[in-house]
Amino acid sequence: MAFKIGLLGLGTVGTGTAEIILNPSGRHPLLQEIEIHRVGVRSPDKPRSVQLPPEAITTDLEAIVADPEVDIVVELIGGLEPARSLILKAIANGKHVVTANKAVIARYGDEIYTAANEAGVYVLLEASVGGGIPVIKPLKQSLGANRISSIIGIVNGTTNYILTQMTAVGADFEAVLADAQKLGYAEADPTADVDGLDAADKIAILASLGFGGRVKREDVYCEGIRQVSAADINYADKLGFIIKLLAIAQGAKGYESDRLQLRVHPTLIPKAHPLASINGVYNAILVEGEPLGQVMFFGPGAGSGPTASAVVSDITNIVGILKSNGKTESLDPLLTCTHQHYCSIVPIEELETRFYARFLCGDIPGVIGHLGTCFGKHQVSLESVVQIGFQDQLAEIVVVTHDVCEGNFRQALDEILALEAVKTIPSILRVL
Ligand SMILES: NC(=O)c1ccc[n+]([C@@H]2O[C@H](COP(=O)([O-])OP(=O)(O)OC[C@H]3O[C@@H](n4cnc5c(N)ncnc54)[C@H](OP(=O)(O)O)[C@@H]3O)[C@@H](O)[C@H]2O)c1
Repeated sequence: MAFKIGLLGLGTVGTGTAEIILNPSGRHPLLQEIEIHRVGVRSPDKPRSVQLPPEAITTDLEAIVADPEVDIVVELIGGLEPARSLILKAIANGKHVVTANKAVIARYGDEIYTAANEAGVYVLLEASVGGGIPVIKPLKQSLGANRISSIIGIVNGTTNYILTQMTAVGADFEAVLADAQKLGYAEADPTADVDGLDAADKIAILASLGFGGRVKREDVYCEGIRQVSAADINYADKLGFIIKLLAIAQGAKGYESDRLQLRVHPTLIPKAHPLASINGVYNAILVEGEPLGQVMFFGPGAGSGPTASAVVSDITNIVGILKSNGKTESLDPLLTCTHQHYCSIVPIEELETRFYARFLCGDIPGVIGHLGTCFGKHQVSLESVVQIGFQDQLAEIVVVTHDVCEGNFRQALDEILALEAVKTIPSILRVL
């Protein structure tokens, strides 16, 4: 008896998923027991690159999630609605769910997992973070013995491609974004990627798994890469750093940590850091735990085949369980999400980190001394102060701090901006 899939969506990932299931030869034998029963799309007459019986294709997605013959609903339509409602209806009808939809899980994970646990069904989401990179299951299972102290990821291929190109050719953000759009590496509306929203969805999911608590999506501090300039990439390079958009979750006490830092922002990272060499559209997630130390997951963070690889691994996981038990009355705690409490998130003003700041100042004697005095007054100690050169007759000064409290740093900047010699502060970035 085959296990029947109701596939919602036959776009980039849906097509890749169907291609794997329809061509099981040479893959895990369980794939031969999986059948695509029905497929839901928006435009039934659109030409498709994958061969499916026309009668399997429908625009009635509600009928798929209610179909008594469907064992597993695979949601690959994306967006918030109707994806959320369809997932909840599938659960209510006793279907297991596989999804690649980080936006829905990051916002409605609480509602979805509460419903799934009550209904005794699995909701698996390996493809929602890192595309083809296996990172969700390792966090749920293989790393369970560790007290996780940090999860730091390059989890958005579009922004990593843009920053890599800006670094390679010295071009500014807007020019590289336009090229990325032409090449299909960035959407026509790039907001979710370049403003860090997609990375924020993903770190909310990873943090919840690594630190054992629910996470409110709105608690993730988020800055994108629009303000990163070619000039800053150049100065960072001279100081031994490379700029990446990092998604960071850090906790003091590991699993069930009660104080979590959760943030997405462009970051200067030392060139010798393991994440510094992750270029182009690739993704990587560096997890640190005790006693393991550091482990890094690296690979293609998007694309039809890689993402479908993760989707199908979730499907085979569920099929494996269904085959061995025949029923799932008690869910495997290593595969579900059972935490009830919410992680408490450290407000950004309390964050302790290093900063990079660039100042444009009138060429007045003693200006570096004035900057030092303002920083000193607010307990900001400086690692380096460099006068890089001149821009429009203004002296360009770059400062890198030691670890400081973000609130203190901001107060010092307010005071510095009031100095007559200081004209603007074109960039402020955090340093890893
Ligand atoms: N693309 C990637 O590399 C990637 C990587 C990781 C995760 N993901 C996630 O995977 C999911 C799918 O992404 P994708 O890139 O495959 O999207 P996509 O190419 O835009 O495909 C979406 C599919 O869903 C169908 N659809 C959308 N809204 C619908 C509606 N209201 N009713 C019926 N059908 C609807 C579309 O139908 P038509 O074909 O008829 O238009 C299409 O087949 C998203 O959650 C995304 O975030 C994607």
